[in-house]
Order: sequence, then structure tokens, then C-alpha cells
Amino acid sequence: MEAPASPFDTLLYNVDADGIAVITLNRPDKLNAINTQVLADLQRAFRQTRSDERVRGVVLTGSGEKAFAAGADIAEFTDLDALEGHRFALRGQAILTSIENSPKPVVAAVNGYALGGGCELALACHLRVASENAQFGLPEVGLGLIPGYGGTQRLPRLVGQGLATEMILTGDRITAERAHAIGLVNHVTPSSDLLAKAQEIVGTIVSKAPLAVAMALNALRSVDLPQAQGLQMEAALFGQACGTEDFQEGVHAFLNKQKPEFSGR
Ligand code: HXC
Repeated sequence: MEAPASPFDTLLYNVDADGIAVITLNRPDKLNAINTQVLADLQRAFRQTRSDERVRGVVLTGSGEKAFAAGADIAEFTDLDALEGHRFALRGQAILTSIENSPKPVVAAVNGYALGGGCELALACHLRVASENAQFGLPEVGLGLIPGYGGTQRLPRLVGQGLATEMILTGDRITAERAHAIGLVNHVTPSSDLLAKAQEIVGTIVSKAPLAVAMALNALRSVDLPQAQGLQMEAALFGQACGTEDFQEGVHAFLNKQKPEFSGR
């Protein structure tokens, strides 16, 4: 039987039996370059992951063997001037930030190139798993540009100012092994195991209390606040967690040596 047509022009979207949505950038002939349609499809797909109660977590990957995404689609750059370029960056940033703000965990499974906007898309995910052949880079300065989908902000927060400065100013690509060593990716696997590893991580996360996971993501996002404010935010979210049925269930199950059955309430 033929697989049902994807409701997205540039993405594949499948939800597995465990409630993990696998979203696949699907322009392999263009190394999954992110054009306007890809951004629109990503926006719609991630809205769907929020509203679909079956979905508990997300894996984002690229189709084909060569690339997660080789950047924003350079073919769309020819008409950009100062004003349009500003709008272009803001639009992509808003969509990547909505991915970062997902209350459900999002893991990037990076197969092959993650360059420019592709690297920035992976950085907007909560965690990253890479195949051994993955390469990461922000080559924008070589095009007379700078990263515009959050790379100058998210990369230094993840790997530190010095390493981020080197990657952004040289445009050099780094291997998966190096990306792992500097904390850019959480795990490196053979290509054949990549998706399974990403699904395993999402699976572990979604076995926990969903509201607590969403609150933990929220608290982690507060890391840019001054510490005193971040601590207040943490305490407020801790209080919210204590008001959930899942908290009652988790403590009850522990004390009775049972496995908790979380309801997400
Ligand atoms: C459009 C792209 C593309 C891109 C690859 N392709 N990357 N098209 N935008 N970013 C297309 C090629 O034109 C080609 O199409 C096909 O994909 C295969 O690519 P090749 O170059 O033939 O493959 P290969 O020789 O293996 O080289 C792979 C590569 C190279 C090293 C990844 O493609 C490359 O350097 N790509 C550009 C990477 C880059 O500069 N990314 C940053 C973009 S700027 P045809 O039709 O010829 O077969 C950016 C800014 C984000 O991302 C922020 C915006 C605000």
C-alpha cells in the first residue's frame, strides 16, 4: 500500500505508536536547504505537535544521507536588501524560537551537514544527536553575511564565547566528534542508529511527567535572567509542579514502590 501523501510540501510528518512525532526536512536534492516554504511548513508542523494530544515529543531530522540542512536556501537571497534581510531574519528567528519554546521535548537528529541556518535550526532544538558523518558550521561570513537565525546568540550560550567566535568568524566546519567534545551535540552515533537514538532519548523524556518536563524546559530557558530572578522563576515553577496531579502520583508511586502512571494533569 502507498504511504499517505504528506500534508506538508517540504516535510514528512509521522507520529509513532509512542507519541513521538518525527519531522523530516524533505528537500534532499537541495540538501534540505531551508526556503520560505520549509519555514512555513515547520511553523505549521510544530503548531500541530503542540495541539495534537497524541504527540508527546518530537524528533527533527533531514531526509537523505548527506544533510540535516545545508542552510537557508541561497537561491532566495538574490532579492534581499537591508530592509528585506532584516525581515527575513526576524521571520526565521520567530519560527525557530517557537520550536525552542515547545513545551514538548524536541531532539534534532543531525545526519550529515548542519550548516548556517541548518546549524541554527539544530541549535533551537532542546537536544542534539549527530551521526558520525555530521558536520556543523556557520559559513555565513563567506557569503558576506552573518548568522541570522540565532547562531550568534545560541551557539555561544551552548559552547562558550571563544569557540563560538572561532566558528562564526572562520566559517570552518567541525566534525561530529568535535561538536560532541565542545557540548554542541549530546551524543554521536553511527548513521544507522541515529534515529533510534533520538527516539530513545525522547522516549525517556516522555516517560516522565509531561507538565514537569514542560516546566523544566521553561526554567532552563530562564538561564539568561539574572540569577536571583532565575531562582525566583525556578521556585515559582516548582510550586506549580507541586500543584499537579502528576506530582501526587509520582510521590505516591515512589512511596509504594510502584511505577507512576502520569496523566499530564
Ligand atoms: C540552496 C543549496 C544549499 C543552500 C546546497 N544546495 N546547499 N541550495 N541553498 N544552502 C544545493 C546545491 O546548489 C546543489 O543543487 C545541491 O544542493 C547539492 O549541493 P552540492 O553543492 O552539489 O553538494 P556538495 O558538492 O556535496 O557540497 C555540499 C555543501 C555545499 C558543502 C554543503 O552544498 C555548500 O557549501 N552549501 C552551502 C552551505 C552554506 O553556505 N550554508 C549557509 C547558507 S546562509 P543543484 O541544483 O546544483 O544540484 C544561511 C543563513 C541563515 O544559512 C540565516 C538567514 C537569516
